[in-house]
Order: sequence, then C-alpha cells, then structure tokens
Amino acid sequence: MDTDLIKVVNKLQETFSTIGGDAVDLPQCVVVGAQSSGKSSVLETLVGKDFLPRGQGIVTRRPLVLQLVHQPSSTNADGEFAGTSTAASGPGPSSYDEYGEFLHLDKRFTDFGEVRREIENETYRVAGQNKGISKLPIHLKIYSPHVLNLTLVDLPGLTKIPVGDQPTNIERQIQDLVTSYISKPNCIIIAISPANVDLANSDSLKLARSVDPRGLRTIGVLTKLDLMDNGTHALDVLTGRVYPLKLGFVGIVNRSQQDINGNVSMLAARRAEEEFFKSHNAYKNISHRCGTKYLAKTLNQVLMAHIRDKLPDMKARLNTLMGQTQQELASFGDTAFLGDAHRGTLILKLMTQFARDFVASIEGTTFDISTKE
Ligand code: GDP
Ligand code: NA
Ligand code: MG
Repeated sequence: MDTDLIKVVNKLQETFSTIGGDAVDLPQCVVVGAQSSGKSSVLETLVGKDFLPRGQGIVTRRPLVLQLVHQPSSTNADGEFAGTSTAASGPGPSSYDEYGEFLHLDKRFTDFGEVRREIENETYRVAGQNKGISKLPIHLKIYSPHVLNLTLVDLPGLTKIPVGDQPTNIERQIQDLVTSYISKPNCIIIAISPANVDLANSDSLKLARSVDPRGLRTIGVLTKLDLMDNGTHALDVLTGRVYPLKLGFVGIVNRSQQDINGNVSMLAARRAEEEFFKSHNAYKNISHRCGTKYLAKTLNQVLMAHIRDKLPDMKARLNTLMGQTQQELASFGDTAFLGDAHRGTLILKLMTQFARDFVASIEGTTFDISTKE
C-alpha cells in the first residue's frame, strides 16, 4: 500500500521544525450524519483501530476531537532508535508503538478497549446517564507509526425528536454544534447518509450544503449498503447522478451490530466489505471505487491537493532560508566545516534535498491515511 503521504508530511513537518517554522496545517476532517448512520464506525476504520463507542441509539453524546500523531515505530522509551541497539532487554519498543492520551487525564492507554471505556465514562461524567448531549469536547490523542498527523472529529448525530434528558430544542442545538465545526473553510466534511433511507431526507447533505453550497469540500458517504431492500441498490447515487458533489460519493459496509457483538475484527470486516462490492451485481463494475479503503484514498487525495496548494508558499520560504544560510556560510570562509558553519552546511543539505524529494514525491501519487492492514 502507498504510505508516502505519511512520509512526505512527516518529512515536511520535521524539516520545518528543524529550521524553526510552523508545522503543516492539514484540514480537520469532521463526520456529520443522522444518529446511528455509522459515523463512529467510519472514523474508526479510517484510523484502523477499534476504540470508539458504537451502537444503536445515541452513543456519541459529546464531540470527540481526535488528534492523530505520527510517531516512528523504531523509538524506545528514551526516544533512542531501537534499531541501533542489540536485542531488546526489558519491554520492547512495541509496547510504546501505539497509545492514546486524553487531555482530561494524566495516563497513557495502550489498550484501546480501555480508551473506549474512558470515552464512555467521560461522556457519562459530563453529559449524564440519560441521552443528554454536551458540546464540551473530549480531546484524545493517538500516537502511532501508522497514522498521519491529522485531526478527525466525531460528533453527536443529527436528531429531530427529544428523548430522555434532551431539551425540546435538541434538533437546533445539535445543528448549531455541528455547524460550528463544519463551517470552518478548511474543514473537510464527511457527510454520512445510510443507504436504507431516502437520500432526499439526508440531514447530513442538507447541513453540509448550508456551509459548502458548491459541494467542494464535502465527501458523500453512503453506509449500510448491505441493509438495502432486496432488489434495490444505490448505483445512481454512487456514480454521482443523483446529488452533485465534487469529491463524489463512496459506498461503505461497516460492521453490523451483530458483528460488533461477536467481536468481528477490523481486518475481517474489510475483507467482507471488499467481497460484498466485488460480488454484488449492481456494484461489481465500480467495486474499485467503493469501500473503506477507497474512502481513505479519496480523503488522502484531498489532503495532498491541500498540500499542493500550499507548496508555492513553502517553496518561497525555503528559498529565502536557503539564501540566508548560503550567505552565512560564505561569511565563515575557510572555517566552513567547523562548529556552527558545519551545522549550517547540514541544514542547507537537508533543505535542498528535502525541496527536491518533496516536489518529486507528491506529483501524481495517491495515499492512504492508515497504513495498517
Ligand atoms: P453513529 O451513531 O452514526 O456514530 O453510528 P455507529 O457507528 O455507532 O453505528 C450505529 C449502528 O449501526 C451500529 O450498531 C453499527 O453496527 C451499525 N452500522 C453502521 N454502519 C453499518 C453498515 O454499513 N452496515 C450494517 N449492517 N450496520 C451498520
Ligand atoms: Na449510534
Ligand atoms: Mg457515534
């Protein structure tokens, strides 16, 4: 699988932090959809880990701001490269490879089942036991060698009728909450609609259109294709003949509630999804444009396009810095290989190489967010 986006973005971020610049500001991706449309399921498969509460009814009751942080797998606890040391003594690097940390808690979670329980507890703590919604976000960082530095946001589902502790204006409240996230111009909207409900009634598309009227930063996602009535299909929607979106629609089959209860693995679920599209009469001709893997690819193309847009700015900044460094080096004269000047040479070399590699590596390439199969 192509993992170059992770490499490119990390190289970019490393270089800019080496030369004292800002990190690359990738857009936030936000999932929007009706309650139980499959938002949390989709986010989870994009990250490639089981860690979000999912289920029937109102499960996500606070925004979850999920910050993915790329961390190379070859480091041990001291931050040294494990590859340079001999056979591991004590806990191996793998125990530090992937973990989660919450803003509200001083603890490192290596068990992602525990991450899910903490999200549940934290939801109960602030939003109560009885279906109430809170706009106070939960902040979770996931460190992993398999992710891009990227922020994803999971939100409570759009709903119409108040239940439990919900106030009478719950519809408005959730709409306002969702709008506050998706109205930012550099937010990518993942607008989810379940395939077993008429698209004309899709609240996610309606809300996405209110902030992105030309459909330029909205990706349509059709979930639950496996639950459509026998003899019906959504080929027209998936091929863009029903609703215009520049980034198009992607069909998805997530794990069913039965799959979740039976602990069906992410890998098994992805295989089953692939098989579903390949063997379905209506979808087999477009199966390469369906499924979770394709959604991740589409999302990455969008992120690459974003970086490409910023490229002229970055190049200009690099050129200025390179010019300055060259002048500094010249002023050192014969002692150019000592001390500061030596460091200057290294930085210059790094930047030149970086600028060359970077431009070459993003031309005509597509990538996946999660590299984990
Ligand atoms: P959310 O409320 O939008 O976050 O939706 P969840 O991800 O919590 O999913 C709600 C329920 O729908 C869960 O029981 C999921 O197993 C189920 N579900 C989600 N997507 C699909 C799908 O594509 N197919 C099937 N059969 N069930 C799904
Ligand atoms: Na749900
Ligand atoms: Mg949810």
